[in-house]
This record gives sequence, C-alpha cells and structure tokens, in this order.
Amino acid sequence: MADWWDADGRRHRKQFSTSAAAREHEHRETALAHAERASREMKLAARTSVGKASAGKTRGKKASGDRWSSVETVNGTVEPAKGKLGVMIPGMGAVATTFVAGVEAIRKGLAKPIGSLTQMGTVRLGKRTDGRSPKIKEFVPLAGLDDLVFTGWDIFEDDMYEAASNAGVLDYRLLEQLKPFLSSVKPRAAVFDHNYVKKIDGPNVKKGKTKMDLAEQLRQDIRDFRKSSGASRLVTMWCGSTESFIEPTEAHQSVKAFEKALRTNDELIAPSMIYAYASLMEGVPFANGAPNLTVDLPVMLELSRKNEAPICGKDFKTGQTLMKTVLAPAFKARMLGLNGWFSTNILGNRDGEVLDDPGSFKTKEESKLSVLEHILQPELYPELYGNMFHKVRINYYPPRGDNKEGWDNIDIFGWLGYPMQIKVDFLCRDSILAAPIVLDLVLFLDLAKRSSELRSLGIQEWLSFYFKSPMTPPGLYPEHDLFIQSMKLKNTLRHLKGEELITHLGLEYYD
Ligand SMILES: NC(=O)c1ccc[n+]([C@@H]2O[C@H](COP(=O)([O-])OP(=O)(O)OC[C@H]3O[C@@H](n4cnc5c(N)ncnc54)[C@H](O)[C@@H]3O)[C@@H](O)[C@H]2O)c1
Repeated sequence: MADWWDADGRRHRKQFSTSAAAREHEHRETALAHAERASREMKLAARTSVGKASAGKTRGKKASGDRWSSVETVNGTVEPAKGKLGVMIPGMGAVATTFVAGVEAIRKGLAKPIGSLTQMGTVRLGKRTDGRSPKIKEFVPLAGLDDLVFTGWDIFEDDMYEAASNAGVLDYRLLEQLKPFLSSVKPRAAVFDHNYVKKIDGPNVKKGKTKMDLAEQLRQDIRDFRKSSGASRLVTMWCGSTESFIEPTEAHQSVKAFEKALRTNDELIAPSMIYAYASLMEGVPFANGAPNLTVDLPVMLELSRKNEAPICGKDFKTGQTLMKTVLAPAFKARMLGLNGWFSTNILGNRDGEVLDDPGSFKTKEESKLSVLEHILQPELYPELYGNMFHKVRINYYPPRGDNKEGWDNIDIFGWLGYPMQIKVDFLCRDSILAAPIVLDLVLFLDLAKRSSELRSLGIQEWLSFYFKSPMTPPGLYPEHDLFIQSMKLKNTLRHLKGEELITHLGLEYYD
C-alpha cells in the first residue's frame, strides 16, 4: 500500500505487490507533485510581477530619463537633476586628474567616455521580445557632463594641470588642449596626518588645535564651494592616498562618541574620516575610492541616514580584482575546485609608493583578500575551496609609472581532482580604469540623493559593482560577483522607474 499527495494536496492510495515498488511509486509521485506546484508558483509570480510593474509605472509625471523632470512611481520620487553638480575630491592625484581631464576632453568632443556605464550602458526593460533597451542616462535623470563643476584638496600645491602632468597618465598633447580649464582647479589646503600616509608629506595642509577645528574648516570649504560654483548639489569622492590600517574603536561607534574624539584629538580618527564627517554634516553624499575605513563605520552610517547623505565604498574595483570577481564566480558556477591563487603587481606611480609602506599595504591587502572567501564560500564547499591558498603582493617599481602589470597564477582542479593552471597577465592602466568608475559614482550618488527611497538608506549597496570591498548593512555579507552586482545595479534603476525587475526566469516565453 502506498500513500501520496498530488499538487493540489489530495491524498491517493494504491496497492503494490512489494514494499520497494510502493516506495518507489510514492517517491516519484511526490516529486512530480512538487515540480508541478513549483512550476505553477513560478508562473503565478511572473504574472504578478508583470501586474505589479505595470501598476508601478510612472504616475502622471514624465517617465523618460529627461533630467529636468521629476520621476514619480509607487516606489517613490526622483527629483530632477536641475542646476550644476559640484564634485569635491580629496586627493588630486592620478585618478582624480584623469577623471577631471577626461570629463573635460569628452565635453570638448576630443574623446569618448569608454568604460562608463552611465554614459555608454543600456538597461533592458520588459521582455526580451519587447526590444526596449534605452541608454541608462536616458532612462534615469542623471546630471549631464556639462553640469559638472570641480574642486579638490591636496597636500601639494599643484593645480589639476600640473598634477595631471606629474601623474603622467594622459598624453601631454591632450593635456595642453585642456590646460586653461585644468589650471583653474586649484587644491584647497588638506587635512593631513603624516602618521597615516608615511611615504609622502606636503606643504598645503590646514592647521587647527583639534580635529574638530579641522572638520569645521572643511565644512567652511564645502559651503564656500557651494556658493562660488553656484552648484545646486554636491558629491564628495575620496581619491586620496591609502591610509594606514586601523580597526574601528569605541570612538567610531556613534556620532556622540566621534565628536568627542574629534575634540580630544583621538589618534584613531584618520584624515579621511574628517572629510567624511564634514561632508555628511553638510548633507553631501560621500564615496570612498580607497580601502581605508572612512565611511565604513557606525558613526558615518548614523550621520548618513540622519542627514540623508548617501555613502558607498570602498576601494575602486579596477584591474586585478575586477578579473578575480569575473573568474572566481565562473569556477564556483561550474563546481571547479581551487588550490591556490597567487596575485602580484608591479606599479610605479605615487599610489605604488604609498603602498610600499607596510601600514598602507595592510589596508589594501585586507581589501583585496576578502574577495575570494566571499565569492567561493569555503564553508559551503569545503572539498572545493576549504584549503585554498590566497596571496596578494604589490611591488613598487618606478619604471612602470601608472601602467601596472598584474600577474595571477591560479591553481584549479577538476573532475576526479585533476589539477590545471590559469595564468593572467593584465597590462593595465590603473587610472584609465578608475576614472570612469569615479564618473559613474558621482552621477549615481547624486541620483541616490535625489531619490526619496534611496537617500535615507545610508549605504548604497547597489553600487557594490564599483568596489573591491563593498559596504553592506550590518550583518549582511558583501556580494562580490561582478554579474550579480551588475544585475543588482540595473534592477535598482528599474525599481526607481517602476519597471518590472528582470529575474531571467523566462517561463513567460513558454506560456
Ligand atoms: N587607480 C586605481 O586603479 C585604484 C584602484 C583602487 C583604489 N585606488 C585608490 O585611489 C586612491 C588614489 O589613487 P591615485 O593613483 O590617484 O593615487 P595618487 O597617489 O596619485 O593620488 C593621491 C593623492 O592624494 C593626496 N592626499 C593624500 N592624503 C591626503 C589628504 N589627507 N587630503 C588630501 N589629499 C591627500 C596625495 O597628495 C596625492 O596627490 C588611492 O588610495 C588608491 O589606492 C586606486
């Protein structure tokens, strides 16, 4: 005798000659019932989401990416991108100057915004058969490149033209064409502490009795820039050197404790944190391109949420880690094992010099190492990833300048444990890869600030796509897989516009 339940929950009973046959029949019928129910549920979910999406479409106001109109959906409102957007950059080095010079070159029609999702990317809407794939910048209201105005802080007195010439990333013939504009962007005096960046020192530094005084001076700089530039909105983007490794302490746990620590000159308040505090106090979004803690602290999350100034970080995902977050998900998707991953780099720019100091290197190393553990989940797959050896080296080698070379030796294993090797030799250009990331982050953080739904969240996890160590809400592990990150980003844009989210389920095509 065998009992089983069908997809509608009805009980059935049948007589069999052997108990093994009865068990087999019972298992098969139960499996079929599960499959049928799951398929029905998926179809229903797909239909409901279509219904929800059409219900969520833009209410009344314009739904196009026209940046001068607001967007209103059941998911909230996005205010228009009216007026100028001021970009404030602590650290006017290779990345910052390549970004600003690049924006100006693109505005003048001298080059194309290659590598920038906001400028070149599209977002698919609706079904694959609908043929709707607008450009991202036409889909959501983003600031235009012509609306960007810039300022920065640095410990050196070089203006953007001199700093870009020293960085040696861009061809001097291009820089000459941009000279009047780049020369006009002069560095404000920096908040700096040599103990946090041991390899460099410079004269253009603010003085103050306490760290709170320094924060007040930065806040004044921000207010001055807002006024002098006429910007209606601002964003701060940390492109300063990597600071020495520190761990969060009591002083970083709340705004109250942090402000007390600023007044008492707590040595564990790093300069980048003072810029972050000043920006968030002024209600200005802050992104962190380096691996320092900076905004990755409870105090900054509290301030960000309170003042509706979105934050994100940390450490731009450019060369070697970009490759890692493409290859590692492929190994895991195919259940290929990993014995070891040895990564080494040679680079000769100022960033490389700073990272030659063990304190700054430790900060970078932590950021680079965490990626594989999170993607490969050795706790779930101990036979495949339980014994992997992961090593990252960065070697300062001046002849290469900004043209880094990143080598990876990857020892994988396949069917029956047979070993294989992959070698990656990426001859990249660090700042050429970083500049479009800066542009996208500036435009997306400004979008987040104008979105009623995103601006009070604090951490903008949908921007994980751009970072080596993405920030997440407390208790959540970061998502490192580049393709999951890309899907998350585009689904966030669809959500803002009340469009159907794309799950790639695809069952609706077979209805
Ligand atoms: N280029 C990349 O691919 C990449 C990738 C990930 C992260 N990063 C990070 O981005 C940051 C910038 O990189 P880069 O190549 O432009 O370095 P860089 O050395 O050329 O520029 C950094 C600038 O910051 C300035 N600075 C240091 N401390 C400062 C402070 N407290 N206030 C104001 N200015 C300060 C330095 O004087 C320097 O001009 C570094 O932290 C780097 O690790 C770069």
